[in-house]
Amino acid sequence: MPYSTIRFAAADHVATVTLDRPDVHNAMNNMMREELLDVFMRLSKDDDVRVILVTGAGERAFSAGADIREFVEPSVPTSFRESRKRIDFRQVMDRCPQPIIAAIRGYAFGGGLELALACDMRVASDDAQLGLTEINLAIIPGGGGTQRLPRLVGRGKALEMILTGARISAAEALRIGLVERVVPAADLAASAATLARTIAEKAPIALRYAKEAVVGGLALPLADGLRLEGDLSTLLRTTEDRMEGARAFLEKRKPSWSGR
Ligand code: COA
Repeated sequence: MPYSTIRFAAADHVATVTLDRPDVHNAMNNMMREELLDVFMRLSKDDDVRVILVTGAGERAFSAGADIREFVEPSVPTSFRESRKRIDFRQVMDRCPQPIIAAIRGYAFGGGLELALACDMRVASDDAQLGLTEINLAIIPGGGGTQRLPRLVGRGKALEMILTGARISAAEALRIGLVERVVPAADLAASAATLARTIAEKAPIALRYAKEAVVGGLALPLADGLRLEGDLSTLLRTTEDRMEGARAFLEKRKPSWSGR
């Protein structure tokens, strides 16, 4: 499907999804939601893609959140199929086997921050501002923000952000564990790409199982999470790449992964 609100590119096992409405700070309209659903459904089935990067076009915003124009003039794209209406693209992201990295430049508000929260890791530029600002519009976060934010930063900090609608700086976001790295704005793209490439160079099945163990385990009681980890570790002992990893170490060479 040709996209009109996002851009998609893939190289060296890294796929990049760019929110592409820079004139409105990459605000998220219904078309963008549908296109994000489509791209993440495709990516989750693409074995060649090992890491996904999500970013915003331009220098000013990752995304300023839901398109507020659609609050007063709702527009439902004609191709928005009945069967897909109830699927939130962020739930598809949760089920993506590949790690997803958000590269956040400038504003990440409301649904924009909720998209970043649905990613597995967040790298922010030092000029980023982040907030779940919905309360200022008499609404609450509806894209998972009330659930994913407290799981990252704890109940008190999440409620403080959600109830005040405040914007916080990248430095504060780093301090409270909302982002993993903060880099100078000019280095953001390169820094996020380096992180993506570093991960993409690891053995493909181990990467997927590592994400499954962490993300799947977080939804389970500890004993069940440990069992999940045990099952996945045992399965990994049967891979060709495990032998290749050990041989490459002993032969002092770079491993060459087969993905089997
Ligand atoms: N929905 C629709 N349009 C938006 C938007 C949004 N969430 N955020 C910004 N825009 C539009 C503006 O209306 C403006 O359009 P115009 O050029 O036709 O007037 C354009 O993007 C540029 O925004 P502007 O407000 O002029 O830029 P700024 O740098 O002064 O401020 C923000 C940027 C992000 C602080 C400000 O736009 C803002 O507060 N946006 C709303 C954020 C929000 O509440 N998001 C949560 C929604 S639930």
